[in-house]
Amino acid sequence: MAEIQLLGMTHYPPFAWADEHMSGIHHRILSDPGIPAEAKDPAGWPEAMQTEWGDDGGRASAPAHRAALIDGFDRVRAALDDFDPDVIVVWGDDQYENFREDLIPAVSVLAYPDREVQPYQTGVGKAFPGYWNEPADHSVTIKGRPDIARALAAGLLEDGFDIAYAYQPLHDDQLAHAFLNTVLFLDHRRIGFDWPLICMPINCYGSKVIAARGAWQPFDSELELDPPSPAPRRLMDMGAAVARFFRGTDHRVSFVASSSWSHAFLVDHTWRLRPDTEADRRLYGALVSGDHATWEAYSTDQVVHAGQQEVLNWFALMGAVRELDADLVWSEFVETWIFNSNKVFAAWAPTA
Ligand SMILES: [Fe+2]
Repeated sequence: MAEIQLLGMTHYPPFAWADEHMSGIHHRILSDPGIPAEAKDPAGWPEAMQTEWGDDGGRASAPAHRAALIDGFDRVRAALDDFDPDVIVVWGDDQYENFREDLIPAVSVLAYPDREVQPYQTGVGKAFPGYWNEPADHSVTIKGRPDIARALAAGLLEDGFDIAYAYQPLHDDQLAHAFLNTVLFLDHRRIGFDWPLICMPINCYGSKVIAARGAWQPFDSELELDPPSPAPRRLMDMGAAVARFFRGTDHRVSFVASSSWSHAFLVDHTWRLRPDTEADRRLYGALVSGDHATWEAYSTDQVVHAGQQEVLNWFALMGAVRELDADLVWSEFVETWIFNSNKVFAAWAPTA
């Protein structure tokens, strides 16, 4: 009989960077000439934001933010250690990494075999000196279960989900950071990570996946927007279908939603200087109280307005939570003003 464990975490790239670079995204946004000087002036920021920024551009606040993330990673890791799954399904975004102009699948299953990847050769990884001080050619084995991944793709297609699948990378011969960082961060103590992964990239960035290269362009850019991401409600249904598939197997499987919540660089109504924390708090409240209706009613427009594109990974997870009627064991909301995004960690009790 199957057993299914549900988890959520962040893959925030600056966790892998040294403390002095941890607020680097905020610094880059501040250098955008399209954002007015008044908005950039810390004197006009909320008091808590000024405190976090301090007089050193966030350097002194980095250890506390890192400590909060380490606490979350350790709790998710401990849940995995206890459960010891046969395989981990990860929902994550592909930010113009493996999928580009020639193909943007809405959702796909990567049925990869074991692969050697070099984290510091990827776009986000090699940007700054790393937290771990590992050599540039440091390599990590990401295990796969292509047999289960193929069966999952088949199961989803039979269940009415026209899922894409792949046996090898298209443009990214490493692994998109959402998946790679999930492994690197859950193994931040470098004690090893032997569980195989089935990566399921979701086109979270939708209208900006190509137009903004899955990130941002200068504030006053005229973007030719791409078609949208899959609808939040549809992703919940997809997550539910993945849960149904595994419920019919004998596997012990963990589902992981991997992403931060509202991203400042995607929130135009805050001049991209801080995340939409009110919107995050509303969704988080619905997560904690098991209010699936709030999640089901959420629109793509709301996602885009609040810079919650990556939270679409969590919509897939919440669909599985609904399908399995899983019980939340613990969760944590890590609020920040200057470290780009709020982060949520959560774990639900394993369910049969
Ligand atoms: Fe991401």
